[in-house]
Amino acid sequence: MAKQTITVFGATGKQGGSIVKSILEDPKASSQFQVRAVTRDASKDSAKSLASLGAEVVTADFNDKDSLHAAIKGSWGVFSVTNFWEVFSADAEEAQGKAVADVSKAEGVKFLIWSSLFDVNKLSNGVLPGVYHFDGKARVEEYIRGLGIPAAYFHAGFFMSNLPGQFFRDNGDGNWALALPAPADAPIPFFDAEADTGKFVKAMFLNHEKVSGKRIYGATNYTTPTEIIDQFKEIFPNTGKKTVFAQLPADVFKGIMAGTGAPEPIQEAMVQNFRLLKEFGYFGNDKLDYSLSVCTCTFVSPFIDHSLTMAPKLLTEEPTTWKEFAKRQPVFAGLN
Ligand SMILES: NC(=O)c1ccc[n+]([C@@H]2O[C@H](COP(=O)([O-])OP(=O)(O)OC[C@H]3O[C@@H](n4cnc5c(N)ncnc54)[C@H](OP(=O)(O)O)[C@@H]3O)[C@@H](O)[C@H]2O)c1
Repeated sequence: MAKQTITVFGATGKQGGSIVKSILEDPKASSQFQVRAVTRDASKDSAKSLASLGAEVVTADFNDKDSLHAAIKGSWGVFSVTNFWEVFSADAEEAQGKAVADVSKAEGVKFLIWSSLFDVNKLSNGVLPGVYHFDGKARVEEYIRGLGIPAAYFHAGFFMSNLPGQFFRDNGDGNWALALPAPADAPIPFFDAEADTGKFVKAMFLNHEKVSGKRIYGATNYTTPTEIIDQFKEIFPNTGKKTVFAQLPADVFKGIMAGTGAPEPIQEAMVQNFRLLKEFGYFGNDKLDYSLSVCTCTFVSPFIDHSLTMAPKLLTEEPTTWKEFAKRQPVFAGLN
């Protein structure tokens, strides 16, 4: 049987790149699917390395509909992720996401996976109206649901890669600190986007009928800042003796962001994004059981979701833990 083509947008980035690798390096998935990897610049190294893995690399731009038709034509499946941090506008991100959805429908795509997030304004009843990088993606999810095409929604958790050398850094004196505008017990849905997006999304494509219409949450678990520090101390007991968590007041955090050139709405968006964790839940306080059972059957329990006990084993790749992730971070190299 001819292989089905899956077109992956954002293929040179963290989420899309993980999916391309995960499918092409998996004997079962690569016997069923071929991958078309989309970039705006096929000459760059990240695009060339996708080609060397066996992906068909094509160029397209979310802002150019003709290029989207050419990239999507003949595809059985599409994965789409937009990059808020390039456009800095929920409206622009929404237009890009909707364009891929419209073209997917027009080209007869059989399964679309949209990298979505919650509408925080709605979830918080207007208390957190400024988390633009979530709300625009949620509007695209709502739009796709209305289009009536077979689709599912991958909600990426908080990237572990946001921490090392950024929110979790050496103060300059060998003492490490995690500093966030969130309380020590805020539940963070922790996610290794580069290693694990493919584990979840590949499982979604392979089991598209089961996950159609559903949200799948990309996260290993909920981890609090206290637990992040505790586990860091277990890996690096010597360094860990002086490692602390500091909850930053919103104005201090905004001042730090202002120092990096971030405009006020983006500073406020990030403050509200961190408030979301404890006040309303990054995933609206949903449990991860169903999503993890898609990723690995070891979490399946007859007491959690009865329908899943009937499901065959879907995938056996465990998502990455913070300890595993931290041990291989270059900025932590040499710590003991
Ligand atoms: N950081 C977090 O904790 C977190 C959590 C959940 C969700 N997110 C979301 O993740 C998204 C970014 O995903 P990522 O980290 O996987 O991406 P990334 O590593 O930043 O890479 C961005 C990708 O988007 C592609 N792209 C950007 N503009 C494009 C355009 N106009 N046309 C076609 N392709 C375009 C780029 O392709 P080329 O440059 O090769 O063309 C690249 O592959 C953001 O929207 C963010 O809100 C982040």
